[in-house]
Amino acid sequence: MNQMKITCKAELVNDGFVRNSVASFVMSKNPTIDEIVEIKTMVSEAFTNAIIHGYNGETDREVSIEATLNEDTLRLIIEDQGCGIEDIKQASTPLFSTKPRDEHAGMGLSIIEALSDEFEIQSSKQQGTKLTITKTLKKKHGQ
Ligand SMILES: Nc1ncnc2c1ncn2[C@@H]1O[C@H](COP(=O)(O)OP(=O)(O)OP(=O)(O)O)[C@@H](O)[C@H]1O
Ligand SMILES: [Mg+2]
Repeated sequence: MNQMKITCKAELVNDGFVRNSVASFVMSKNPTIDEIVEIKTMVSEAFTNAIIHGYNGETDREVSIEATLNEDTLRLIIEDQGCGIEDIKQASTPLFSTKPRDEHAGMGLSIIEALSDEFEIQSSKQQGTKLTITKTLKKKHGQ
């Protein structure tokens, strides 16, 4: 078992650093290019949601990103202490967004669902949101 955790300010500028850090962490497992892209995409969608929706752009707040590798299974936990999700089922529906006018397609959570093996959303109003994402890396030839 191996684990990393980053806690950083809710600044969009940290998105690149956060997703690349998780990708670097996973490199020891020799992931495919597709897997790296998928992991970075999931981290980015979750992280930007925490900033844009959870904290509504309030930058002096914190988002935590934990990555755990158990054999070839990656578990990601992305957590904020923001406003929480009113209706998780509705939020998870493709194309649903509470900020449709700001060019949000309402696809982030659906993308995470599609790219992960397991995806759980825990959220309560004014307490925050915790996403738990699990993805098992494929076995490579010759390994
Ligand atoms: N961390 C969060 N805190 C509070 N609300 C959230 C959070 N993440 C998602 N939501 C709610 O769930 C909705 C759907 O999220 P999703 O990522 O699917 O779409 P979006 O962020 O609105 O658009 P896109 O991701 O395509 O830019 C958001 O519009 C928001 O209302
Ligand atoms: Mg989103």
